[in-house]
Amino acid sequence: MYPIARQLLFKLPAETSHNATLKGLNLANRLNLLNRFVAQAPADPVEVMGVRFPNRVGLAAGLDKNGDYLEALAALGFGFVEIGTVTPRPQAGNIKPRLFRLPEANGIINRMGFNNSGVDHLVDNVQRARANGYQGVVGINIGKNAVTPVDLAMDDYIVCLQKAYPHADYITINISSPNTPGLRSLQYGEELNALLGALKAEQLALQKQHGFYRPLAVKVAPDLSSEEIAGIAECLLSNEIDGLIATNTTLSRDAVQGMKHGEEAGGLSGAPVTARSTEVIAEFAAILGNRIPIIGVGGIFSEQDAIDKINAGAALVQVYTGLIYQGPALITDCVTALSKMPASSSVTQE
Ligand code: FNR
Repeated sequence: MYPIARQLLFKLPAETSHNATLKGLNLANRLNLLNRFVAQAPADPVEVMGVRFPNRVGLAAGLDKNGDYLEALAALGFGFVEIGTVTPRPQAGNIKPRLFRLPEANGIINRMGFNNSGVDHLVDNVQRARANGYQGVVGINIGKNAVTPVDLAMDDYIVCLQKAYPHADYITINISSPNTPGLRSLQYGEELNALLGALKAEQLALQKQHGFYRPLAVKVAPDLSSEEIAGIAECLLSNEIDGLIATNTTLSRDAVQGMKHGEEAGGLSGAPVTARSTEVIAEFAAILGNRIPIIGVGGIFSEQDAIDKINAGAALVQVYTGLIYQGPALITDCVTALSKMPASSSVTQE
């Protein structure tokens, strides 16, 4: 059925069809229709970062910035849903159009710019879902407001961490969006060390305050040299960060030269990042071993793409652009394929 729906949806501007799809999904979930149409995936429970995931395939951040559609998205069969990126205060994001499909390349370019309703709204949504009996794994991905200067970014991350902590199963520190000027500079050297050091200290304070531990993951770009990867890996280890998410979208346009929208500014996702993201995972895994688990994301369009990420050293995977192009069957297909694989060494398989 999805190929027909896709034909219709792809006739609309990308952001219009994005919003219409999410609203339709929500309605279908409320009417209890989703469980009739979504094929059941086998259970594949694993423990990663101390969290029990019912299967290894999650939704990547950015599709549901506010957690408005948490339950409907989880009903598609995901083992976990990462919501956000959320910022302390609501913000509109960049002017439209800011989302472009590149069907020839199975890619998307976006320069959304962290459009979101603010962390309080997101937390309300998670609380409401939990009160309704929602028990799925939720990651909350946090960032900084566009108006906050980069040298004060830490304050925004701390505010979001404090508010998200009691409601998240894990929290992602997003320092790799290409659409917030200066954000990626937080991936390097002393800036990264200072940010992670402060967030680690806050995490431990929050653990004391709430009486439970919530893991922190850091999300990185695919546009990193081997030297930069080594620097980030050392910093994750020395600050005892719990997880790594690799990767975000790329600034490279090598794979989309000459295509319609190929020169739009923003981050490119989908098939053009598949191989690079897997390489980045492998490079990090070679350094991190089983000390810090990796969530692999970037251009998963098939079971084989998901298997490749696990073989490269990922403990879990996430999808975004593949879901837009292939539809929800991709989730069940990947869950089924991964359930037949042994878990990587940073994972406890049940
Ligand atoms: C994203 N992505 C993203 N990541 C993030 O950490 N915070 C965000 O707000 C967003 N927003 C966002 C919007 C859109 C329209 C896209 C396509 C992507 C990046 C996403 O989570 C993922 O890391 C990359 O897209 C690579 O995976 P896929 O899409 O190739 O499966």
